[in-house]
Amino acid sequence: MAWVPVGSLTRGAALVTSQAPACEPCHGAGLRGLTVAPPIAGRSASYAMRQLYEFKAGVRSEGNAALMKPIVEKRSMDDLTAIVAYLSSLPP
Ligand code: HEC
Repeated sequence: MAWVPVGSLTRGAALVTSQAPACEPCHGAGLRGLTVAPPIAGRSASYAMRQLYEFKAGVRSEGNAALMKPIVEKRSMDDLTAIVAYLSSLPP
């Protein structure tokens, strides 16, 4: 359970499902994971936020993290907050 600004869920849903680049091609249907990328639905908001921040800052850069860098680098922290609010609201 995490408290997020009002409107985050709706905005996060739009960012995840209707704005390019979409997440499902890599993270799978329902964002439950594929071979290329791990499941991201229904995980802790603070964990997900930390990962997105670290991709953005370039702190998490090993493995296939390079695939995530372009996804997060142009998004604001507000956008990332909305995205994780939505992700953590989904069934795992
Ligand atoms: C081009 C493929 C691709 C797309 C598109 C993509 N991702 Fe990822 N994502 C990855 C890969 C690959 C990883 C694992 C990186 C690694 O190996 O460290 C990852 C990891 C993550 C993680 C961390 C998961 C964990 O368990 O540490 C989050 C959160 C995440 N992605 C969110 C998103 C969101 C939200 C979107 C859409 C806005 C998105 N991703 C779009 C490929 C992608």
